[in-house]
Amino acid sequence: MKEIVLTGIKPTGQPHLGNYLGMLKPALELAEEQGEERLALYFIADYHALTTVKNKKELQDLTDQAAATWLALGLNPDKAILYRQSDVPEVFELAWVLACFTAKGLLNRAHAYKAIVDENLAAGREEDKGINAGLFTYPVLMAADILLYGTHIVPVGLDQRQHLEVTRDVAIAFNKNYGNIFTVPKAVIRKEVMTIPGLDGRKMSKSYNNVIPLFAPSNQIRKQVRRIVTDSKRPEDRKDPEDCNVFAIYRHFADAEAVAAKRQLYLNGGLGYGDMKQELYELLETAFSAQRDTYNALMENRDELDTVLRQGAEKARDIAVPILRKVRKAVGV
Ligand code: TRP
Repeated sequence: MKEIVLTGIKPTGQPHLGNYLGMLKPALELAEEQGEERLALYFIADYHALTTVKNKKELQDLTDQAAATWLALGLNPDKAILYRQSDVPEVFELAWVLACFTAKGLLNRAHAYKAIVDENLAAGREEDKGINAGLFTYPVLMAADILLYGTHIVPVGLDQRQHLEVTRDVAIAFNKNYGNIFTVPKAVIRKEVMTIPGLDGRKMSKSYNNVIPLFAPSNQIRKQVRRIVTDSKRPEDRKDPEDCNVFAIYRHFADAEAVAAKRQLYLNGGLGYGDMKQELYELLETAFSAQRDTYNALMENRDELDTVLRQGAEKARDIAVPILRKVRKAVGV
């Protein structure tokens, strides 16, 4: 029995450095390590994006961008399974079954839903204003994404921890009633990259509009890096590296020696933020320019991308169908 590693990416924005460090990179490393004993399933959660993206062209573009990102970063579709959520219809049947085992109160307390409720209340609006039922039941579909494949390990960013807890709760509730049908999955959350600051120092996130996109044209990346907020210390002043948004990103891309040297320069004085930003920009160019070319080539050949995704979905269904059959049999339909 292989160990199944699965994760999804919701295509609601251009992939950025926060996605890369928090989720894509650890997931790619897990896929790399896969030998005979491990199988990686990585998918684009396009139907999850439909909770917010209601424009056809935009949804298609964002979905393809996410797929091209996985491939450009080196995911090998012959070894791992890369697919679109919507190409595996079994997941939506399972989502219904799981909904019948999900306490509504659990969904009421889900962070993503509660955040909007709180915003509404703070603004004096009705609490569920603007919230569709898809958004409310989002964690149920996510549980189905995971349980449909007998997943053992789910590499995700910290923001998804609660969703994984819901998944585990639902799997356990189901198993308690019908016997051991589902594998109860574990989240893998990388502690050291939990929070990547964005340009303004808050968590890097599309909703804060503070991201550095992975594959934007070089001049745009440079512009974004220049916009990273720093304090007003002069080059000769002593600085605390732990307090600098530029350093917080730099440390993930430079090698250990360079990071140590920079740390000293911050502490001793002698480092200008302008130079530091230029170095960060150059590091990012080195890290991503080749992948950006691959990405652009893939985005110009969308039919080929579609073929890769469809083939992935066929392989995913080979795993999903027997599991769904077991579920149907267990509940008695
Ligand atoms: N909710 C995840 C996100 O917003 C995307 C996602 C959907 C996912 N289904 C999943 C992640 C299953 C891991 C496993 O990023």
